[in-house]
Amino acid sequence: MSNAPGTSKFQIDLRRHLRAQNICDNLVHLMCEIAEASKYVINAVRTGDLGVAGTSNLYGEEQLALDVLSDRIMRKRLIHSGVVCNIASEEMDEIYQCQASADGLYSVAYDPLDGSSLVDVNLAVGTIVSIYAGCDLLQPGRNQVAAMYILYGPRVSLVYTVGDGVHEFTMNNLMEFTLTRENVKMAAEGNIYAPGGLRNKYNAGDEKFIRHLEEKGCKLRYSGGFVPDINQVLMKGKGLFMYPALNGSPNGKLRVLFELNPMAFIIEHAGGAASNGSIPILDIVPESLDQRAPIYIGCREDVKTATAFVNGGKQEVKMEGSFVNG
Ligand code: F6P
Ligand code: MN
Repeated sequence: MSNAPGTSKFQIDLRRHLRAQNICDNLVHLMCEIAEASKYVINAVRTGDLGVAGTSNLYGEEQLALDVLSDRIMRKRLIHSGVVCNIASEEMDEIYQCQASADGLYSVAYDPLDGSSLVDVNLAVGTIVSIYAGCDLLQPGRNQVAAMYILYGPRVSLVYTVGDGVHEFTMNNLMEFTLTRENVKMAAEGNIYAPGGLRNKYNAGDEKFIRHLEEKGCKLRYSGGFVPDINQVLMKGKGLFMYPALNGSPNGKLRVLFELNPMAFIIEHAGGAASNGSIPILDIVPESLDQRAPIYIGCREDVKTATAFVNGGKQEVKMEGSFVNG
């Protein structure tokens, strides 16, 4: 979407951009509601007490940890949107049913405040959202109808895809999200890497892969926040994030429903790839809400190389199923 030739440049806001996509009104409404909720989350992040849950404020009232507060903000908005049947969040043990019917409704899995422990040290954090049509949340990520994240950094940005390109919006001084980059695309291969997890717990393949990247002269760019780390790889268009299996944690750390699927959906739609080392993240059939998986995500060739190292260079990696070039 762009301004007509010869007309002056005006800002395109999120709702207008969503309306130009080939999606139903309920989905436009839902995504705008999530964007609205993020304004309260960023307010909590910027100004909320950094006390942990159970401590009290100046008035002796109980304080909520920021992740718990963010979860309530998101959940309330989703429930009141009127277009959601099921909700699952990293902060909840079970699925929350808003409405029983699936007709024209959506289900949402989200991480309300990923990296919340980084707020104490003033690093960037984010909200990650995955949306499915109907009531089923335990299905492969490839079935998502939309995915988005909101990054709370020096600026607040929102990135979404509904399956037709990846688009970035930035919050302006009126707290509106306006289009800053449309159809973000990733190069086939990159030169930055963001490796999560303790390296002394890496298996041999991952260790060799990291050495390969170092020898290639790749730059280490890792903040410890999944949202800013993925955003960097995506917006630079060249790089790879990984959180591999670790000694003692064979499924790594990050969760399929709340973290991996939405990011994999976005990165694949930008021309990148995401794998657990053997199959695309989006083809994992989740069995539980809190399922975890290792992840290699970013430029297609980098993900391919990573998975080849993980498999001892033996196995040809399954990359098909990607949305772009696939
Ligand atoms: O899921 C939370 C998270 O903080 C992510 O944002 C980040 O990628 C990861 O965990 C880092 O984990 P750790 O510092 O424990 O390796
Ligand atoms: Mn998280």
